[in-house]
Amino acid sequence: MSALRGAVIGCGFFAQNHLQAWGDIKDVRLAAVCDIDPAKAQQAAELTGAVPYTDVGTMLDTEGLDFVDIATTMATHEPLVSQAAAAGVHVICQKPFAPDIAGVRRILDTAEAAGIRIMVHENFRYQTPMIGLKAAMARIGEPFFAHISWRTGFDVAKRQPYLAEVERFILLDLGIHVLDIARFLLGEVADLCARTQSTMAITEAAAAAAMSLRHTSGAVSEVVCSYTTRIDPDPFPQTLVEIEGSEGSLHLKHDYRLELHRPGRVEVSSVAPKVPAWADPEWAMVQESVLNTQAHFAECLISGAEFQTSGRDNLKTFALVEAAYASAASGQPVVPEA
Ligand SMILES: NC(=O)c1ccc[n+]([C@@H]2O[C@H](COP(=O)([O-])OP(=O)(O)OC[C@H]3O[C@@H](n4cnc5c(N)ncnc54)[C@H](O)[C@@H]3O)[C@@H](O)[C@H]2O)c1
Repeated sequence: MSALRGAVIGCGFFAQNHLQAWGDIKDVRLAAVCDIDPAKAQQAAELTGAVPYTDVGTMLDTEGLDFVDIATTMATHEPLVSQAAAAGVHVICQKPFAPDIAGVRRILDTAEAAGIRIMVHENFRYQTPMIGLKAAMARIGEPFFAHISWRTGFDVAKRQPYLAEVERFILLDLGIHVLDIARFLLGEVADLCARTQSTMAITEAAAAAAMSLRHTSGAVSEVVCSYTTRIDPDPFPQTLVEIEGSEGSLHLKHDYRLELHRPGRVEVSSVAPKVPAWADPEWAMVQESVLNTQAHFAECLISGAEFQTSGRDNLKTFALVEAAYASAASGQPVVPEA
């Protein structure tokens, strides 16, 4: 079988990880890169050996691609998916899919009408610590409670200045990942309550949130996130998790330490990421998850298997974000509507 021909659209801050990760995936050849900023397209071409473009239409007409990897910010996802769909090219697209759920539904309708496959680059559940935690859940019986925490003081807006301008900040940018982890670990959600707080000097938008989720299994999870937590050591970029089950509990702690607690005994293991050769040690866990996400996309494209984070699956995560904003506004529990 010949390698899949792919292209990255948007060669900004986070795409640097996408660009390098494609080079580690043996069934993919990164044929082209595209950014409306010629300097960024050129720099990405030098990094990868791919052909640079500044116009997506020209690239789609020229390159005979199997897929595009959309790594632009959310406002551009819908028109770019439409262009890919019109060209019959499969898509992996960064989160958040769109600014609101109506946009997500339009994107999915466009992709399905064109018969292209579409996956969301929702990388948190492809993190090695999360995969290890999920596997260990087989040892704690029936899970009934989880506390899932992503609270940091890391200055996210320094490298992503556009975040200071967005109206929907912590839940759409970050909460979407942590809510996806809640679904990954404990299944679908019957209803949720949310409280948000405006805690960041550069924006009035909520920069901290606390949510309580009732899962359809009967389990309850608390999902908390913050960009303004002063803490040392700061767990960034790790998500910390505690899960209680009928036979034991699991604690995923700082530095990838996983503890399995049963009455009278604690087993400790490490669920640390494998560090890609191109990774920066501070970002290795994130960078490895990008590689894992893209490898999953390529494997499923080749085998025909369902993507774990298909567009339709991610609609359910997006519905949790919408429910959380609605609950924070009304003070009432909200049923997510995917
Ligand atoms: N999963 C994660 O951990 C994670 C972390 C950071 C960012 N992200 C996501 O990645 C996405 C990109 O964020 P970023 O911080 O890299 O943004 P960025 O602004 O640094 O990069 C976006 C790039 O897209 C280019 N672009 C815009 N429109 C284009 C078009 N029509 N054609 C070609 N290029 C175009 C811009 O010129 C820019 O270079 C966002 O959706 C963000 O939420 C995810």
